[in-house]
Amino acid sequence: MIEARGLVKSYGDLQVLRGVDLRVERGEIACVVGPNGAGKTTLLRILALLEWPDRGVITYDGVQATRDNAASLRARIAYVPQRGHVLSLSVRNNVLFALLARGIPAEEASLRADEALRAVGLYSLRDKHAPALSGGQKQLLALARAFALQPEYLLLDEPTASLDPENAGRARKLLREYVRARRAAAVVVSHSMSEVRELADKTIVLVNGRVVAAYAGAPDDAALSRLFA
Ligand SMILES: Nc1ncnc2c1ncn2[C@@H]1O[C@H](COP(=O)(O)OP(=O)(O)O)[C@@H](O)[C@H]1O
Ligand SMILES: [Mg+2]
Repeated sequence: MIEARGLVKSYGDLQVLRGVDLRVERGEIACVVGPNGAGKTTLLRILALLEWPDRGVITYDGVQATRDNAASLRARIAYVPQRGHVLSLSVRNNVLFALLARGIPAEEASLRADEALRAVGLYSLRDKHAPALSGGQKQLLALARAFALQPEYLLLDEPTASLDPENAGRARKLLREYVRARRAAAVVVSHSMSEVRELADKTIVLVNGRVVAAYAGAPDDAALSRLFA
């Protein structure tokens, strides 16, 4: 379970999060929607323990995140930023590197890398130089890397924003199945109505650093149309 309570975060005079609560059970996907600048990415980076809130508490399965245990918690989290960087390596080695960096033995890492690249449809491009990929392909690579890590918690920032409908659909299905099969917990920032419909076990709407609405599942069509108007 991922739980955040009372998250407050400012950058200088700018209050970006003003008391955000969120709870995601194992086996669930929570979608976070809201306008540009609402604080969605900041929330995700704080959940990923890459930044610390000024106030508030984050717990992972009941364990409160602190600077002391952050590294061991981070090893169980996969965070996929809005625009992921790729290393100046082949596609396959980008995935392998992430796995080896987490101490996964080479043989196991190799199997997982191939499996993840097949799952996202990048296997045929495995030897390509990753920086030469298109934006959408880089996003697929970031997803492959995340799944290959076999995290307990997934934090995805607009994961399908630069994917064509077919790849977006495949990525969502993969996420849905992964979360169910492994009883993982995921938070997905989304700008896509169809994504929220397909993925959300719950949805929070963030505006100006506050949760202004929360829904079980996805909001109904009328609410969705208002949100994405
Ligand atoms: N590191 C930072 N330093 C200063 N301001 C920031 C920083 N990160 C985000 N912000 C500001 O915080 C606000 C929320 O940003 P962000 O969390 O990226 O929103 P969203 O992802 O919802 O578009 C924006 O006004 C943004 O400019
Ligand atoms: Mg953002």
